[in-house]
Amino acid sequence: MLAAALSMHLELEVSEVGEFGVDAGGAAVPEDRSNLCVRAFERLHPADDLRFEIRSEIPVASGLGSSAAAIVAGLMAAEHLYELALDHEALLAHAVELEGHPDNVAAALHGGFVICSSNGDAPRATRFDPPEGVEAVIVVPDDQVSTEQARRAIPEEIPLADAVANVAAASLLVLGVQRSDLTLIERGLTDRVARQSPALVRACWCGPSGRTPARSSTRFASAPRAGRRSTGRRSRRSGLTFRSCRVGCVETVGFTRMADGTAEDYALLERLEAQYIASLPDRLLAAVRALEHSFGGYQVTRFEHSLQSATRAHRDGRSDEYVVAALLHDIGDELAPYTHGEMVAAILRPYVEPRICWIVQHHGAFQQHFYGRQTGHDPDARERYRGHEWFDDCAEFCERYDQNCFDPEYDSLPIEAFEPMVRRVFAEPRYLDG
Ligand SMILES: [Fe+2]
Ligand SMILES: [Fe+2]
Repeated sequence: MLAAALSMHLELEVSEVGEFGVDAGGAAVPEDRSNLCVRAFERLHPADDLRFEIRSEIPVASGLGSSAAAIVAGLMAAEHLYELALDHEALLAHAVELEGHPDNVAAALHGGFVICSSNGDAPRATRFDPPEGVEAVIVVPDDQVSTEQARRAIPEEIPLADAVANVAAASLLVLGVQRSDLTLIERGLTDRVARQSPALVRACWCGPSGRTPARSSTRFASAPRAGRRSTGRRSRRSGLTFRSCRVGCVETVGFTRMADGTAEDYALLERLEAQYIASLPDRLLAAVRALEHSFGGYQVTRFEHSLQSATRAHRDGRSDEYVVAALLHDIGDELAPYTHGEMVAAILRPYVEPRICWIVQHHGAFQQHFYGRQTGHDPDARERYRGHEWFDDCAEFCERYDQNCFDPEYDSLPIEAFEPMVRRVFAEPRYLDG
C-alpha cells in the first residue's frame, strides 16, 4: 500500500499541569480521554496530570489522515516527553493497532512517501522521497466520509483484470515518483478499483502549481518534528509539529511582462516566495539524500561521506552552523563539479557565520593537499590562502571532517538526527546583510 505525507499541520502540545485536560481549539473531536491524541499517548504513558492542546489544519473525516496524524502525535509526544527510546518500527506497531491499517500512520510518522507491507507479520514501512516539481491537489467534498466508511466502499472481490491493472499502475506510480517523471506518475494514477466508488477518490497530483489555478494545492511533507521545552519536571512540555498544508487556491499574477506587474501582483509573488523559502530545509535534506546516488568508487556513498562529516563535527561539539555546513558541504557536486564549494557557500551565506562559509567555499583547494601528489594536482593549492585569517580553520575542516570521512566502519548518525539542526539554521537568514 502506498501513502504520502502532505505538508499539513497538526500541532500537539502536552504540558504537565497536575490535572487532565484537552483543548482541541473548537475542532469537532472529543475533549476527553477518548480523544485520539490522548488514547495514543496513553498506550505509552498515563495522561492523568497532563493537558493536551491540539491545533489541526487537517479537515476531519475527509480522507486526509486526520486520525493518523492525531495518533502519531500522541505516540510521539509520550515517547519524546518520557524518553522511551522507541524506534519508528515500535511506534508504527502501536499506531497501526489504533488506526487499524498502516498506510496513513506510516506516512505521518516517516514523512515523504511510504510503501506499507505486513504479510501477516508486524507492519513495515519503507520510505522514499517525494517527487520534485509535483504538488498534491486536494479535493475536499462537502460530505464527510470516515476512512472506515471509505474502506467499506471497496468491493470484497476484485476482477483479476482490475487487480492486475492496479498492480501495474502502482508500480508505474512508484517508479514515476522515484524519477520525478510526470508521465509515469500520470499513468500510475489510473485506479480501476477506486473509480467505481467516488468516496475513494479524494486527491490527485499535478505538475507546477501555476498550471492549476482553480484547485487547492499543497506540498508533500517530510517527517514530523518534535521539540521539548524543559525547565524542570513540573513544567516540562512536549510540542509536536506536523509539516503543514496550505489548502487554498493557487493564484497567479496578471502580467506576462514584469514591467506590467501591479503592486498586488508583486505582493502575491512575495507571499508565495516566502512560503517556498520556508521549505528550503526540505530541499536541502533531499539534496543530501540524493548524494546516495552520486558517483561511486569510494567505499562509502557520497551521502554516507556527508553523514560522517557532520557526525564527526557534531561529536566534537561543533556549533549547529558548523555541523550543518559539514552535512551540506558536498551537495554542490551534483550541479557544480568544478566549483561545488562556491555553490554550497552561496547557499549557506545568509544562514551561517562568514568563517564557516569561507571554509566550505575553499575546502576543494585545501582538500587537494591530501591527494594532489597521487593525482598530479597541486598539493599546495591551499598555499595561495596562507596568511588568511581562516586558513587554519579550513585546513582543520579538511583534516578532521572531510579527507577522513570515507570509512565504511564509522558509526554515522542517521540524517534524521541532523534534521532539527538544519531547520534551526535555515529558519532565519541571520547573515543576509553581512
Ligand atoms: Fe568537497
Ligand atoms: Fe567532502
